[in-house]
Amino acid sequence: MKGVVFQKPRELSVETVSDPEVQTATDALIRLTSSAICGTDLHIYEGRMGEPTGMVIGHEPLGVVEEVGSAVVSVKAGDRVTVPTHICCGFCASCVSGRSAECLMTNPGQTGAAYGYPGMGDYKGAQAELLRVPFADANCLRLPGEPGDQWEDDFVLLADAFPSGYHAAELAGVSTGDSVAVFGAGAIGLLAAYSARLRGAADVYVVDNVAERLDKAGEMGFDPIDFGAGDPVEQILQKRKRMRSGSAAWRGEEPLIGVTCGIDAIGFQARDRDDPSRENPHWVTEALAELVHPGGRLGIIGVFVDQDPAAAGELERRGALAVPWGSLFKKGVTIGMGRDHDERYNGRLRDMIVTGQARPSTIVSHHIGIDEAPDAYRHFDARRDGYLKVVIRTG
Ligand SMILES: NC(=O)c1ccc[n+]([C@@H]2O[C@H](COP(=O)([O-])OP(=O)(O)OC[C@H]3O[C@@H](n4cnc5c(N)ncnc54)[C@H](O)[C@@H]3O)[C@@H](O)[C@H]2O)c1
Ligand SMILES: [Zn+2]
Ligand SMILES: [Zn+2]
Repeated sequence: MKGVVFQKPRELSVETVSDPEVQTATDALIRLTSSAICGTDLHIYEGRMGEPTGMVIGHEPLGVVEEVGSAVVSVKAGDRVTVPTHICCGFCASCVSGRSAECLMTNPGQTGAAYGYPGMGDYKGAQAELLRVPFADANCLRLPGEPGDQWEDDFVLLADAFPSGYHAAELAGVSTGDSVAVFGAGAIGLLAAYSARLRGAADVYVVDNVAERLDKAGEMGFDPIDFGAGDPVEQILQKRKRMRSGSAAWRGEEPLIGVTCGIDAIGFQARDRDDPSRENPHWVTEALAELVHPGGRLGIIGVFVDQDPAAAGELERRGALAVPWGSLFKKGVTIGMGRDHDERYNGRLRDMIVTGQARPSTIVSHHIGIDEAPDAYRHFDARRDGYLKVVIRTG
């Protein structure tokens, strides 16, 4: 089969690699119809997750079951399925408590496994034509419809991007009437904002400096904030002050012009506000700490790592950030973070799509064939020419 293979930082190739096979009775083999490229793949692409030369990358598959092992009971050849990024067993202590991204069985000695991801188990990636799925009963979620139908782009986002956006909103405890500031207008930030809306948020701000992505945020009904045009905290506070003026419902709330919920959808490679050509993961946390109300909640969905040899500073090299702990403590802020437990949400989000309540595919910007992947990565990595969410049509 063909697969997208990491060669060295910023260099991928499309190679013919060996076909995966059903290896154990609980496996399934999936023939992919679509496979999406993620911001997480860019951390790998840029060489920030080690140098997994020869690895097929990708972790956002959608396809049709080709073959199942003898013990698989819930799916059969011909079923259309989505498969979550984080590979789970379905029966360990983490899985049964709803924390599938910390599965204890699929990456022995570690918590959590994923396709095509350095350090997360020996699983071939999903930017390929076929995928071996272990513990198929736990990982395959059946879908209605046919490959290439009106849901193809919605369903490919069920593997990771949509549940991750939703998880961010869950971590930030977003519910009816909340005000939400999302930093990062990539696929995850936009789907976090979208999920906040689905959960009843009253107003949603999305911060970035990429014009096309801010336009998309506006088109989706959020308030775009360009950090290139000035301090985003100040911009949001001014907007909220104006919105509040004249309100009849004051109960001593005048100082509460911040937001109730904040989301970091960027992670450890966040750009510096004054000089976006360099990284500065600290200021997003600082900005969120400043912006959030007393009693507010923060959801950190952007990836942070515990070792980053390529980082500029000594703190960042060991995954440590200077966090304004004092102001967060004073405000009594709750912080949630970590990998998305995609299994928790994908069935419910599928049903939101099928009933027409959710159309996450609005963020898909490009469709390509697998041979075009190395070129698409170059554009996506530069976050230019409107590259926001690329879907490889593999079938
Ligand atoms: N926790 C999880 O399970 C999970 C799942 C999927 C993705 N992620 C992570 O979420 C993050 C976002 O993914 P994506 O696909 O949207 O990636 P992306 O790189 O396309 O989007 C990130 C966006 O942040 C913007 N940005 C950079 N610095 C900024 C700053 N200081 N302020 C505001 N905006 C800034 C960039 O311009 C870009 O538009 C990545 O770190 C990815 O690894 C985590
Ligand atoms: Zn992803
Ligand atoms: Zn498990």
